[in-house]
Amino acid sequence: MLQEFDSRNKNIQVFVKDRLYPRTEAKVSVFDSSVQGGDAVWEGLRVYPEGIVCLDKHLTRLQESAKTLAFEDIPSKDFIKKAIKQTLDANGMNDETHIRLTLTRGEKITSGMDPRLNQNGTTLIVLAEWKPLVYDNAIGIKVISVSQRRNAPHFLDSKIHHNNLLNNIMAKIQANVAGKDAGLMLDEKGFVAELNGSNLFMVKHGKVYTPFAHACLPGITRESVVQLCKKHEIEIIEADLTLSQFYNAEGVFATGTMGELTPVIEIDGRSISSSHLLMNQLLKFFKEEVRTLCEKL
Ligand SMILES: Cc1ncc(COP(=O)(O)O)c(C=O)c1O
Repeated sequence: MLQEFDSRNKNIQVFVKDRLYPRTEAKVSVFDSSVQGGDAVWEGLRVYPEGIVCLDKHLTRLQESAKTLAFEDIPSKDFIKKAIKQTLDANGMNDETHIRLTLTRGEKITSGMDPRLNQNGTTLIVLAEWKPLVYDNAIGIKVISVSQRRNAPHFLDSKIHHNNLLNNIMAKIQANVAGKDAGLMLDEKGFVAELNGSNLFMVKHGKVYTPFAHACLPGITRESVVQLCKKHEIEIIEADLTLSQFYNAEGVFATGTMGELTPVIEIDGRSISSSHLLMNQLLKFFKEEVRTLCEKL
């Protein structure tokens, strides 16, 4: 599914470093680390009238990713929250909104890889757009397994939510070429890791399974689903899972802030039912629960 331009986003205001700019003027320098080396961290946030889903967890992950990458001058949660509030207020947004929150290592004094060239502090970007859920969750998505493997910790730890997204973009290109919605990425041992931009779950014999977070982003929506299973006394198991197990699952779904819970109805040409009772119960529980996970600014 290809997202389309939403004309409501034509004149949005975007926060860059310390103030708002109109969309056409919202830019970073050619010396910015994100341009020079994809040297930035990011979060996707979803906005409801009740607040932002799991805001504190997202801000913690952003700060921890930045600490791992040894950013100096990491902004406080308070500073980031004020920047988000300023952006949402300026755009009159409180629903159907997705925020791409980015923190770059900042502007360099000259081009180069060395973080010591960053002497101007980090750059925070709050890009809030009108963006309803990106998939039609009533229909679901078709995916294909790709040759590009998801990073394991000994290459580049998938627990860092960084902007160096080429690992995932290569997978998405393969899915595009095949005419499918997303690329299913394996880890370096051949177990299922995740889709190129969301986590995966499967349902079989009354139990819910998800891959270990060894080579996938430990998604915040993934964590909410795990908690939801525990709350409703549904057995949830983290495991090494193969493609064959996913092909023969009774239900498969993807999780992420952009699309929330999305049934996967085909993997590598094998159909998977989207009408499994337990899976649909989980989808319903999440819909009911998501607004209680919102935090006011
Ligand atoms: C590779 C990848 N996996 C999974 C996710 C889902 O994570 P979350 O549920 O925290 O949005 C994302 C979202 O950014 C992602 O980029």
